[in-house]
Amino acid sequence: MSDYKTLLIERHDAVTLVRLNRPQALNALNTQTLTDLIAAFAVYDADPDQRCLVLTGSDKAFAAGADIKEMEAQGFAEMYAANFFAGWEQVTRTRKPWIAAVSGFALGGGCEVAMMADFIIAADTAKFGQPEIKLGVTPGMGGSQRLAHAIGKAKAMEMCLTGRMMGADEAERAGLVARVVPMADLIAEALKTATVIAAMAPLATIANKEMVNAAFDLPLGQGIAFERRLFHALFGTQDQKEGMAAFVAKRVAEWTGR
Ligand code: CAA
Repeated sequence: MSDYKTLLIERHDAVTLVRLNRPQALNALNTQTLTDLIAAFAVYDADPDQRCLVLTGSDKAFAAGADIKEMEAQGFAEMYAANFFAGWEQVTRTRKPWIAAVSGFALGGGCEVAMMADFIIAADTAKFGQPEIKLGVTPGMGGSQRLAHAIGKAKAMEMCLTGRMMGADEAERAGLVARVVPMADLIAEALKTATVIAAMAPLATIANKEMVNAAFDLPLGQGIAFERRLFHALFGTQDQKEGMAAFVAKRVAEWTGR
């Protein structure tokens, strides 16, 4: 079912599994990959039968960064005129949930894309880093901001200034990843978690995602007010009636997404 040049896509019932597929470049993220991901995420977001998405790479590399060979010769004028990397914001506007399942290298843009996900499940082989400083630049896809939000100033600053890689266990302790699993179980565990999410009420799923994300944009008081209003709004849905009636009747809820 795939017309994508840099992705392999499988459907597992209500879960879409997207694999980055440029093995010759350790899944380095070039313009074609971005074009493919924007299209694949738009298809996912628009399909009511698909309720969660897992983005993964290979055992060796989730993604070893933005494609250095593509960027090397660019000048300021070209980068500025193209607003290079701005297209990644479309990926972050995906309303439905998605998980990054990371094995091996998640460096530079690879780490940044993983952090765009709603959460990361890491294989014990995962290595996260923002090594752009070694190339004479900085992160450019949100890494300095999302890393600082995720793991705090000290570790984010240390990683950006030294370019060192952080292993899976340290990443879990630091709050960068939700869970670490053996590499052999990564896809099965990610699909299992995605299947749990896919079985929840669709509107409540989007609302929960919007709320947690609001915590990173809004001051606390506004974030709490936003949460309360969205909570109130869900009482206008059929699925709130169904979810609470099913609990009282001790039966499984049947969601309509209304
Ligand atoms: N861009 C383009 N090509 C890349 C790449 C990248 N980010 N990372 C790896 N490759 C290519 C290599 O050039 C190599 O290609 P050739 O066989 O044609 O030489 C192939 O992938 C395999 O890589 P290595 O031989 O280097 O593999 P290794 O196992 O020896 O090392 C590695 C693995 C440590 C990840 C090393 O490849 C590496 O350091 N890669 C670059 C990491 C990096 O600097 N990432 C940040 C990029 S900039 C960025 O992402 C900016 C941003 O904010 C978005």
